Amino acid sequence: MHPMLNIAIKAARRAGDIIIQASRNLDLLNISKKSRSDYVSEVDRAAEDAIIKILHDTYPDHAILAEESGMRGDIVNAEFQWIIDPLDGTTNFLHGLPQYAVSIALKHKGLLNKAVVYNPSNNELFTASRGGGAYLNNQRLRVSKRSRLEDCLIGTGIPFRDLTHLEAYLKIFKDIIPRVAGIRRPGSASLDLSSVAAGRYDGFWEIGLAPWDMAAGCLLIQEAGGLVGDLEGNDSYLESGQILAGNPKVFAQLLQIIQPHLSQALIENHRAAQKRR
Ligand code: IPD
Ligand code: CA
Ligand code: CA
Repeated sequence: MHPMLNIAIKAARRAGDIIIQASRNLDLLNISKKSRSDYVSEVDRAAEDAIIKILHDTYPDHAILAEESGMRGDIVNAEFQWIIDPLDGTTNFLHGLPQYAVSIALKHKGLLNKAVVYNPSNNELFTASRGGGAYLNNQRLRVSKRSRLEDCLIGTGIPFRDLTHLEAYLKIFKDIIPRVAGIRRPGSASLDLSSVAAGRYDGFWEIGLAPWDMAAGCLLIQEAGGLVGDLEGNDSYLESGQILAGNPKVFAQLLQIIQPHLSQALIENHRAAQKRR
């Protein structure tokens, strides 16, 4: 296995240990609010510190973008850049719902190159390397083969912090509901994307994600043979935070359904994100 993937796995497991230990004593946690519906605990910070220590000690020249501590190093020019969400699904974690993960991705020369999503509650470790495939523990992953929407299970994330695009989101939601076998909102975007890579979901969409929610999961899906785009099917997902993913047939069908519901605000958000790329 590539040494950088190994180090990322080591960091994810270390963070997972911290999270699981804390999950046994949720009542003792110090929790603060970043903004409405946005909580952070000392566990998010401790897990992130542990990840950064391992990555930085091993690769002091690599830049880091991490949810709780922001940027470290030259994010724009560094050849290697790590993108970290130490605890994706904090709300679930704080409520004792075992649906959360550690998400670590590595970009090399601007392209996603390595990915780790680790669910410490059930020990599922999702990994991917550009050109090397995606794996769950040691098993190779492929996206699902389903093509009839009526047979498909679709994941999503319902807006809850920034409600700017709620109306457009609900229109999309209403249009998809009657066409599919079911919709799920488990509450951890990195695990949702991993579920697409593993063929558990046939598609997924969300509006308003951050790069650390998505980076690892996107590479997992691509390496499992799936497609990832923004809600217009373009490449601005990491910058715009609007994401559509799925097996290639489902991706195309969801894209068609979504188009008529895109608001001017969403389209402008795409355009601005495209320019930042
Ligand atoms: C959140 C989760 C959730 C998604 C939110 C994210 P966090 O991450 O991924 O599924 O809907 O937009 O912010 O805050 O728990 O790391
Ligand atoms: Ca997150
Ligand atoms: Ca987080």
